[in-house]
Amino acid sequence: MNLATNVAKKYNELFNETPVLFRSPGRINLIGEHTDYNMGFVLPAAIDKSIYFAVNKRNDDYCKIYSIDMNDSFEFSLNDIRKSGKHWPDYLIGAVDEIKKYGCSLSGFNCVFGGNIPIGAGLSSSAALEAGLAFALDKIFDLGIGKLDLVKLSQKAENEFVGVQCGIMDQYINIFGKEGNALRIDCRSLEYQYFPFEFDNISIVLFDSNVSHSLFTSEYNKRRQECSDGVKVISGDHPDVKSLRDVTCDLISQYKSKLNPNVYKRCKYVVEENSRLLQACDALVSHNLKLFGSLMYSTHEGLSNDYEVSCNELDYLVQLAKEYPAVYGSRMMGGGFGGCTINLVENDAIDLISTEITEKYKQKFGLQAKTYVTQISSGTNIISIKENETV
Ligand code: GLA
Repeated sequence: MNLATNVAKKYNELFNETPVLFRSPGRINLIGEHTDYNMGFVLPAAIDKSIYFAVNKRNDDYCKIYSIDMNDSFEFSLNDIRKSGKHWPDYLIGAVDEIKKYGCSLSGFNCVFGGNIPIGAGLSSSAALEAGLAFALDKIFDLGIGKLDLVKLSQKAENEFVGVQCGIMDQYINIFGKEGNALRIDCRSLEYQYFPFEFDNISIVLFDSNVSHSLFTSEYNKRRQECSDGVKVISGDHPDVKSLRDVTCDLISQYKSKLNPNVYKRCKYVVEENSRLLQACDALVSHNLKLFGSLMYSTHEGLSNDYEVSCNELDYLVQLAKEYPAVYGSRMMGGGFGGCTINLVENDAIDLISTEITEKYKQKFGLQAKTYVTQISSGTNIISIKENETV
């Protein structure tokens, strides 16, 4: 039975009625890491790993949610919104809280969800929960929240309710994703542009290190702080500098001795990454995937040495990938400290490379890496129950 049908069936079993079904995808990010909260550029895409929601209205103020993967349920009243004490419901409660704060009136609802986005792998299952539910509630209650506002309020759910000071990338791509396309988001103006990313001979392959990012929240928030510390110093001399987006490579190099060494490294990485991303988009337009891939390798070096959000396991996966001419580019992806590497790999070499890399990885770390060959899919959408297709 496919995931969508399974979720609908469980909903029916628990609530004895037919739900509305939604599909909310995970995401990859091709290049542009840790740039979103620095008002820079990112280039994510929605993927074919998703969370499915079955949702419908209730006549009272209760919200009853059931997670198939956790085999656990939680219920809360719209009039008593607070943390659940068990983490997984918080992404959903946070989204409901923000919808209320946005000024919408809604009644309670029933919700069953489940999917195949691995948790802690850096594929943004959290944004899929927040933005997926926000989108679903917008539809079933006909709230008329625009797409960009859905993005912003889902991000706020993560910032304020869950407590991770994430940027806007994950929620944005969750809502705006388009099949076969990467999305360049300008995180300062919030404008976007689609870039087709479909190549006959190349696939996007993820190697999941199977290291879950326990340092993620604390170190992530710390990097944000270090970047804003750098901006503070630079804007003292250059009042037009509001974020690292306004800093050029030339300007940052003038601050080498004026910034705390760590702060300098963090800022330098971000400034370079923005410029790399723009080059990478040009490379895409001219179908130069070799150049695109070499920029991915440079991103990894920056994330590992300057931004210091990688770990030995991710570094090793990239190092192994680099040995194969059939791999055009490889780097750690997402917030860091675990999760996946993203790799551009020639199709007919995927099986061999995946087998060899996972074997060597196991020998060195005793961990079983997983391989996901991903397809770029659409953003969150409503799906029909019978055919499980987009309506
Ligand atoms: C996490 C955050 C994003 C982004 C990335 C790093 O996925 O949720 O906002 O900052 O890390 O690029």
